Amino acid sequence: MNRKDVLDLDDFSPEEIQLVFETADAMKEVLSRPIKKVPALRGKTVVILFYETSTRTRVSFELAAKNLSADVVNITAATSAVAKGESLVDTIRTLQALGADMIVIRHEQSGAPYLVAQHLSGSVLNAGDGWHAHPTQALLDMYTMREKLGRVADLSVVIVGDILHSRVARSNVWGLSKMGARVTLCGPPTLMPMLEKRGSISDLPEVRVEYDIDRALDGADVVMGLRIQKERQDGGLLPSLREYVQLYQLTQERIARAKPGALVMHPGPMNEGIEIAPDVARCSQSVIEDQVSNGVAIRMALLYLLAGYKGHQL
Ligand code: CP
Repeated sequence: MNRKDVLDLDDFSPEEIQLVFETADAMKEVLSRPIKKVPALRGKTVVILFYETSTRTRVSFELAAKNLSADVVNITAATSAVAKGESLVDTIRTLQALGADMIVIRHEQSGAPYLVAQHLSGSVLNAGDGWHAHPTQALLDMYTMREKLGRVADLSVVIVGDILHSRVARSNVWGLSKMGARVTLCGPPTLMPMLEKRGSISDLPEVRVEYDIDRALDGADVVMGLRIQKERQDGGLLPSLREYVQLYQLTQERIARAKPGALVMHPGPMNEGIEIAPDVARCSQSVIEDQVSNGVAIRMALLYLLAGYKGHQL
């Protein structure tokens, strides 16, 4: 894979995504061994720099880097010089001077990983930036679909919830469209971006928008719930959570409208009882824990593939 960074999936080709999947297959084989460690990144330093909270992404990146024998440094904004006012660019220059070969960054500002990529000669992996992108989540979501249903092409994937604030939805739209899936976005109009304007930007992927959840779920192969992001809600976007639950919660009755055996997915963290009923989160069709497990293999694949990039320089 001839790229320095993973910032979003808009600049990935279908062939690159396929290569990530095939490399993740090999990483899953490593993960099935009694000793889940290979020396691929021995001598490399991976810095995990998180300005926002995380469980799944942070831990799976750390495990992925350690499984590849990298030296791993964890930094959170609250315990670094950022808390004393150091800028993001100065932080990156400092980490580079300390020998960082790769930086995994989560930041509340959309676009922050792109700025980091301009100032780091090594690789940058976007672990979620604001409302913008979460490419490694979308890759593990698609990988889980491929693993469970045998393909991504031609699947009908319905993403339900707070689309407006969802970096997971945005990266999935790019990735799923490139891999030939059909994407339906479903949620209240106040939590839907102004997609009708997409015609003015010719290379944006086509998606179907459906405000009625029952119509959206008819015949779906995959149903992906999104977290209602209480911390990102500007006042007035939802009349009440109770109304959201009535109109959009993923319930057994609603899931039954999808194809038999349709996958139930959620990137986590879940608000059980709000966007997803507890029995749906744990039903036989739910692959939510598989998504979490596959995150390690996908992130190992990406770290491994980026380590092979030869053009590192500023
Ligand atoms: N899916 C996801 O990004 O979860 P975390 O916030 O726990 O990393």
